Amino acid sequence: MPVINRVAELADEITAWRRHLHENPEILYEVHETAAFVADKLRSFGVDEVVTGLGRTGVVGVIRGGKAGPGKTIALRADMDALPMDELTDLPYKSKRPGAMHACGHDGHTAMLLGAAKYLAETRNFSGTAVMIFQPAEEGGNGAEAMVKDGLMERFGVDEVYGLHNDPTLAIGQFGIRPGALMAAMDKFTIEISGKGSHGAAPHLSIDPVFIASQLIGALQSIASRNVDPLDSVVVSTCVVQAGSAFNIIPQTAKLVGTVRTLNETTRDLAERRMTEICAGLAASFGATIDVDYWRGTPVLVNDEAKTALAVSIASEVAGPDAVNAGVKPIMGGEDFAFMLNARPGAFIFLGNGDTPYCHHPAYDFSDEAIPFGVSYFARLIETATRA
Ligand code: NI
Repeated sequence: MPVINRVAELADEITAWRRHLHENPEILYEVHETAAFVADKLRSFGVDEVVTGLGRTGVVGVIRGGKAGPGKTIALRADMDALPMDELTDLPYKSKRPGAMHACGHDGHTAMLLGAAKYLAETRNFSGTAVMIFQPAEEGGNGAEAMVKDGLMERFGVDEVYGLHNDPTLAIGQFGIRPGALMAAMDKFTIEISGKGSHGAAPHLSIDPVFIASQLIGALQSIASRNVDPLDSVVVSTCVVQAGSAFNIIPQTAKLVGTVRTLNETTRDLAERRMTEICAGLAASFGATIDVDYWRGTPVLVNDEAKTALAVSIASEVAGPDAVNAGVKPIMGGEDFAFMLNARPGAFIFLGNGDTPYCHHPAYDFSDEAIPFGVSYFARLIETATRA
């Protein structure tokens, strides 16, 4: 059984919504027009309840099934925000806003969830309740956490929650997923080194923060090579180095900023502890002061085993069993849907986007041919998972 016929009929309409959203991208929590567009559409479909302003600018649509008997409340989630970057394409629906672009396909995710809402409101071929979640600020703003903290799960009585993300490494019509850790915890570190400035020709009178920073960048790599079990995963990337103003001045301070990615909380704790210890040790050995600000961003995204099996069976129903890879490798990118999965069991799946530039590339575009697969997956998931 491939994609749902009615969904295939709706594909042109859903594509038009997707392109409208693509042309009008908004960033982080400032998704006011997008949220209004989503809420208007949901009302026009005749869903039972539309709630706005959850987690600041999130929107929720509730659809009650038309079948008698008990049923579960199943939530589906899409993200609505774009990225702060310029689009480098010649698409007819290219971003109209300089410095904003849907370069991660959240326009597609939102349009697909709207498509599923339209189909489900029209057919209601399920018992129980469908909760459609449209969240702001996935890209570094933890919008999912904001909605969970605003009482999302309790208010709508959510039993399980599911989400998806497009994947440019998978062909159109393919799905990828795995039980357990699928995406990494995403942490940010900022390290400030305070030494003592001097003339570039008088290093003996300085405590050189640039030299200490260079030692530290190397020493931090020992977390991966000498602390974490080689069969475990960790990334420590120093991505920003700031110091100095002239060729003959040893500066007073230096700053390093970077990210740590891990696939379980034990490794995450270990990485933070070792970073703090290494900084304290280097500060003592060089006579400098080193301050570490370690910010815990999104947690590890963990797919529930049984819910993943359900997701695999639904994806197989929609795309055919050969099109579903149920054992993809985890990726070290972060995803704030992890906050929702920490609140309720569920699963997150990757949907093939075809051969496009990778997410966050200025020439990336969501593939509209993926729409029938994503919408059918969402719709069948509700029709199946709501069965109590
Ligand atoms: Ni994304």
